[in-house]
Amino acid sequence: MYNTRIEKCKRLMEEHKVDLSVLTPGVNMYYFSGFADIQMDRMLLLLIPVRSEPVFISPELYQGHIVRDSGIVDVDIRVWKDSDNAIELLRAVLSEIEFTNSRVLVDDAMWAIFLLPLKEILRDCSFHPASEILSSLRMIKSQEELQNLEQSAAIADEVFKDVICNERLTGMTELELAAEIRHSMSQKGGEAAIGALVASGPNGANPHHHPGRRIISEGDAVLVDYGCRFNGYWSDISRTLVCGTASDVFRTAYDAVQRAQEKAFQAVRPEIPASEVDRIAREEISRAGFGERFIHRTGHGIGLEMHERPFIVAGNDLILEEGMTFSIEPGVYLPGQFGVRIEDIVVVTSQGGRRLNKSDRNLRVLGNEE
Ligand code: CO
Repeated sequence: MYNTRIEKCKRLMEEHKVDLSVLTPGVNMYYFSGFADIQMDRMLLLLIPVRSEPVFISPELYQGHIVRDSGIVDVDIRVWKDSDNAIELLRAVLSEIEFTNSRVLVDDAMWAIFLLPLKEILRDCSFHPASEILSSLRMIKSQEELQNLEQSAAIADEVFKDVICNERLTGMTELELAAEIRHSMSQKGGEAAIGALVASGPNGANPHHHPGRRIISEGDAVLVDYGCRFNGYWSDISRTLVCGTASDVFRTAYDAVQRAQEKAFQAVRPEIPASEVDRIAREEISRAGFGERFIHRTGHGIGLEMHERPFIVAGNDLILEEGMTFSIEPGVYLPGQFGVRIEDIVVVTSQGGRRLNKSDRNLRVLGNEE
């Protein structure tokens, strides 16, 4: 599988007249090799030259890990010891590579301590972010990738049922609820359950609020937004609940967001531009009078990264294709009052959209069975 991905990568590089891709530990390295780690201070690179075989440049202590996890057949690993100069090894490996177009792709998040020596060695080359070209491969998910995304979404749904709907949220702090969400994701097998956004009352008006010590109180709208990974693939869900009684303006805003989310979902199908899904969501929220308060794009792609291409935003003419996965998450944010957001992950199929999240989207008023 990884050799096939590398072949596809090389074909794309060829089309774009790229001589070499240089990947650092992160999602691209994982996607093309099966080896996963995080970027740290030691130089660990996967070089994919368009006309020769891929090469890892690895610190000695990672060699065994790469041998074990890399799925690239007979992969070439050049090892350096902590007492060696890794830059010299990089220079030697680069000298074996043929450059005809002097174009190099580098991982978007490559650290400057690696990029600067690379630029110094390859003085005549131009450098471009890998996502500009390689994302077209990662955007279309295979069956196996879809299964992982589905499992991940199922964990998020179970947490919603077990933790969020069953808790009497009033009296808890945002931090306490966020910790319970994270704990529950881990217990259900979710990896990297690091982020859980809990925003209560007026804090919800900040779409990316960091949970704090505020105590969730009667009458609060509570916005939760969280996700974890399953075999590397992210989930991401948002729901907004109310403790006690919902105000009229909240209900109006909630209904608008729910309608916008539904209409945008209904619009999903192959061959429409990503911007069309955003336009439909925005139109519905504007019709309810909250257009100015929908202050972010409608969605983002999801896969090995929580936010990746395609972005569901005005101006993105990218045509949707079967196998693309992204969030649909319109929201309305009223400063000093509340925020509402409803988010599901959707996959594009030949029949239209398919939701990976199954959690109820109707307004849930806690502590007041209605
Ligand atoms: Co999201």
